Amino acid sequence: MENLIRIDNLHKSFYDGDAELKVLKGVNLDIHKSEILTIMGASGVGKSTLLHLIGTLDRPTDGNIFYEDQDITAFSDIELARFRNDAIGFVFQFHQLLPEFTALENVAMARIIRQSKKNKTDNETTLDRKDAYETAEHLLDSVGLSERLSHFPSQLSGGERQRVAIARALINQPKVVLADEPTGNIDDKTSEAVLDVLNDVNERLNQTFIIVTHDSRISERAKRTVHIVDGRIAE
Ligand SMILES: Nc1ncnc2c1ncn2[C@@H]1O[C@H](COP(=O)(O)OP(=O)(O)OP(=O)(O)O)[C@@H](O)[C@H]1O
Ligand SMILES: [Mg+2]
Repeated sequence: MENLIRIDNLHKSFYDGDAELKVLKGVNLDIHKSEILTIMGASGVGKSTLLHLIGTLDRPTDGNIFYEDQDITAFSDIELARFRNDAIGFVFQFHQLLPEFTALENVAMARIIRQSKKNKTDNETTLDRKDAYETAEHLLDSVGLSERLSHFPSQLSGGERQRVAIARALINQPKVVLADEPTGNIDDKTSEAVLDVLNDVNERLNQTFIIVTHDSRISERAKRTVHIVDGRIAE
């Protein structure tokens, strides 16, 4: 199986004055292209910490993370920000949709922001926007929300919001989507619908996902689950 990400002897400590809290103590893990990998472990064990490091939102204390042989731990902050925008989609437990924008706008915006970084003529900008809205509509349709395009987040259920967040994470065709407790605050039946969407997107688009959860139902459906125990991976 082809590797997308290789995590090599990753360490992460947090410091409080002189006191060192060692959270990750030598994580080694391969993430394969097109897989759904589930990461489980007790509360406080370092799951979110690991996901933040993979997502380039924080830097390790020691060790390396390779994306297709590129060592991202060697990147500057600017390079990391660019890499993150291009290569990584995020879905968090407490959906971070912008309340004053519709579902369609929330999804399209991620693409418009990315497009706007390059020098463009007015005409190109107009075409880009059209493309962003069309792609957003298509993605919302594919997560079962074609009837909810103009709803605001407050008018959507928890599961619907989470599906909007998934559509948004996909719009820039990331190499990987990182999801931290994506079903953490929604009921069982709604969770099932969100998981169906993740599996469907994985199968149709070969999208790679890394999902952090304490929810054993997610890992039961997952093809591969690893556990973090005492700062390391126990398969
Ligand atoms: N920015 C930080 N500064 C100091 N300590 C932190 C920081 N972030 C996390 N920690 C500590 O690191 C440990 C791991 O936290 P993390 O959020 O990764 O756990 P988790 O496995 O995601 O837990 P949960 O399942 O409850 O979400 C915890 O003890 C936490 O208090
Ligand atoms: Mg967490």
